[in-house]
Amino acid sequence: MNITVVGTGYVGLVAGAGLADFGLNVICVDKDVTKIELLKNGVIPFYEPGLKELVERNVRFGRLSFSTDIQKAIKNSLVIFLAVGTPSREDGNVDLSFVKEVSMTIAEIIDDYKVIVTKSTVPVGTNRWIKTIIDENKKSNDISVDIVSNPEFLREGAAVEDFMRPDRVVLGSDSQKALAIVKDIYRPLYLIETSFIVTDLETAELIKYASNAFLATKISFINEIANFCEKINGNVHHVARAMGLDGRIGPKFLHAGPGFGGSCFPKDIKALVSMGKEHESPFQIVESVIRINDGQRKRVVEKFDKLMDGIDGKGVAVLGLSFKPNTSDTREAPAIYVIEELLKKGYDISCYDPEGMPEFKRIFPEDRIKYFNDPYSALKDTSCAIILTEWNEFRNLDLNKVKAIMKRPIILDMRNIYNPQTLRAMGFVYDSIGRP
Ligand code: UDX
Repeated sequence: MNITVVGTGYVGLVAGAGLADFGLNVICVDKDVTKIELLKNGVIPFYEPGLKELVERNVRFGRLSFSTDIQKAIKNSLVIFLAVGTPSREDGNVDLSFVKEVSMTIAEIIDDYKVIVTKSTVPVGTNRWIKTIIDENKKSNDISVDIVSNPEFLREGAAVEDFMRPDRVVLGSDSQKALAIVKDIYRPLYLIETSFIVTDLETAELIKYASNAFLATKISFINEIANFCEKINGNVHHVARAMGLDGRIGPKFLHAGPGFGGSCFPKDIKALVSMGKEHESPFQIVESVIRINDGQRKRVVEKFDKLMDGIDGKGVAVLGLSFKPNTSDTREAPAIYVIEELLKKGYDISCYDPEGMPEFKRIFPEDRIKYFNDPYSALKDTSCAIILTEWNEFRNLDLNKVKAIMKRPIILDMRNIYNPQTLRAMGFVYDSIGRP
């Protein structure tokens, strides 16, 4: 069976390489010529552990290829996966222009039956809209398409693992024929007893938003608990651990920090709120989650101001620019807000991130902040270090060296990666989140 995957971002590239690894013939297409050229030369345009090897292996076996010729790819495929971007518009609604463009292309060129599988996160109702666009614009009434909503739940930094061993696969469709074809594609996952949820289009679309909104709620919840802990001298670590041992709550997504970022949570929860308003069924909890998350970034700056009160140093080191470890992605990263505020206050920023710097330079060019190739060079002569991402390499810094090279040994650890007592005993002025 030939499969086309349209869009070679995180979702499309991982899905394309993953499906090829299932033994299928996959062609990944994108209109971005540079990206396709890079991929043809074995270069992955972003950092994602394990992806390069997966792509290389499947290209070598002839099951995976890359092209900008979307027409030809679609003509030769029975199944077309949509993995194009669905960015947020200013008003919080989702911009579906790429989805529309691909749907029109499909309509114009198909001459036999196709199954369209939507992997992009799209608002409830979009899959039915895609079918309408294709049905209204196709060349002949003898040609038919079926749509399957198949939301993707992969996490950046663990995307390959999440695709190959997902917690669940969600398939929504009105067509038994299309469902049978897509189930067949995912047959290797049946062997590892993955749970499949088969439902209608709208429910499948909603599952993705409900899942992300719930996870974001957990994070904002624990961040509020952490803020309260600071008032009562409590310890959020102990609260989270004890809560997490209750099987009904679970231990994951209870790490307090500078607030969530990334390409999914901020965008998806805004879209859910927007859908709620449209259907006059407001998502009040999720509305609060957005407010709390915005407030959490501001807290980083408040905590910094408190630490630096009366201190005349202007140099600040920021360790961690990506929105979380193991990714080069800096979209909606807390570092963007924090650095912008510190620049407004007149601080000089030195920063380091293992993978996020090339992308970050597009937001903050080198004439605004200084980039270094290791954490120690970034820390040298600064009066405060702010840890914003919990990369493993920040967990084991040589603290004696750090103390010796900083102008003042002040650390604001927004990911709670160090032990407060140990650092204070070493002579650091240390603050973290929700811990005494
Ligand atoms: C998320 C979902 O997990 C995934 O299922 C969906 O498909 C896309 O969105 P991702 O954005 O890659 O994945 O990152 P994730 O690991 O979920 O983290 C999101 C954000 O929450 C990060 O900014 C992270 O730092 C933050 N976070 C996560 C916390 O602050 N505390 C936690 O306990 C967990």
